Amino acid sequence: MASLLTVFSILVALAGGLYQFALKAIIFDTYGIGRVIQPIEDFPYACRRITHERLQACEDIWLDDEARVLYAACTGTEHRLAWNQAMGGLNASGRRPGGAEIIALDIDKPGADGLFGMRAIKPQGYVGATGDESLDTVGFDAQIVDESTIHLYIVNQRPPVDANKEIIDAALSGANSTIEVFELKRGATEMKHLRTIWSPDQVWSPNRVAIIGDGAFVVTNDHGAKVGLRKELEPIIGGGNVAYCAASGECHAASPTLKFPNGVARGKDGLIYVPSSVDGTIRVFEIQQDKRLKQVDVIHTKHPLDNIGIDASGDIYVAGFPDLRKMMKAIAKPFEHDAPATILRIKKSNGGYQVGKAVEDAEGKIISGATTARYDVKTGKLFLGAALSPFLVVCNPVRSPE
Ligand SMILES: *[C@@H]1O[C@H](CO)[C@@H](O)[C@H](O)[C@H]1NC(C)=O
Ligand SMILES: *[C@@H]1O[C@H](CO)[C@@H](O)[C@H](O)[C@H]1NC(C)=O
Repeated sequence: MASLLTVFSILVALAGGLYQFALKAIIFDTYGIGRVIQPIEDFPYACRRITHERLQACEDIWLDDEARVLYAACTGTEHRLAWNQAMGGLNASGRRPGGAEIIALDIDKPGADGLFGMRAIKPQGYVGATGDESLDTVGFDAQIVDESTIHLYIVNQRPPVDANKEIIDAALSGANSTIEVFELKRGATEMKHLRTIWSPDQVWSPNRVAIIGDGAFVVTNDHGAKVGLRKELEPIIGGGNVAYCAASGECHAASPTLKFPNGVARGKDGLIYVPSSVDGTIRVFEIQQDKRLKQVDVIHTKHPLDNIGIDASGDIYVAGFPDLRKMMKAIAKPFEHDAPATILRIKKSNGGYQVGKAVEDAEGKIISGATTARYDVKTGKLFLGAALSPFLVVCNPVRSPE
């Protein structure tokens, strides 16, 4: 049934004369054929990898610029290769023993080993699918609640289990994803579990959360289905959306169908920015009274995009994939291949958006496969995480930014 529907959708698209347009967009914007990708030396940064076993596959990072601490959600590269619903990794037995970790780094104190005093923030009072404390992190957002308190909203790709808490095959059912809310006291090495949001009908393929406030948040479903043929055709036919979840844990669809909506963020202007990993746009939405999203703008970046990071001054940093073919190779074998990376910086001015490159690495020499960027306005440092690459990257400014 699903396959008939998708064939039908494609036929409709073809008949509609969209074919040429769609194909052009796919070849140039999505795949990046003919794109000029600059070497890292062109940019005013000195970048280096921060390599450590525990800093592998940190898909998402968040900067507490007031307390000068960067938080990274790291799963381990092998873990992520095996267990990653969005990219078809459905082997839950390949997860790393102990699961993913939230790691804290002191950004002003690189230390003699260059690891920024990295330490894990252990969950407390959280019980995972199999009865242990394992997390399976994807994207996350955090909110400074008061002087000493931070709340983290973490997408948790739980493995599906049976009544005896034994993991069952996820090939057909996919992951059993939840959003976990934790409270962290600044400086502590433990975070207290506050609640789990589980809304399988509305939040089936969560990618990243953007906190709205008072316990409410929006979350992207990156695909329209957890598994199956329809999902494979989504780059063409679209799939996925944004859901709104109230503090009560009740969630509802808040946007129309989108194309691989990825790392959503809430801007300093209160608008919701939703990047697409397919069509190179960031759709800008306003939350209406009825808690649905109304599109108010579209930013065209012409790059498949991953996560958005908003800096302290409100500028938007977003990781893009300038060469999707090389990215796919690096995703398949992250220990062997590097992928070119582009970090775009988007400034809002006079009601419009200016898109520029913050940094790019045509060979993936140092920055490879980056999926999140966080810019520290105070020092001009840029921190980069990657969903599969076995390292983080820090870029120090070498000239004052113009
Ligand atoms: C799943 O992962 C386990 C552990 O790494 C491995 O032994 C097994 O062969 C994998 N199964 C498949 C179907 O790839
Ligand atoms: C999915 O997770 C929820 C929330 O933890 C749990 O109640 C439910 O039993 C899980 N279902 C499966 C199939 O693992």
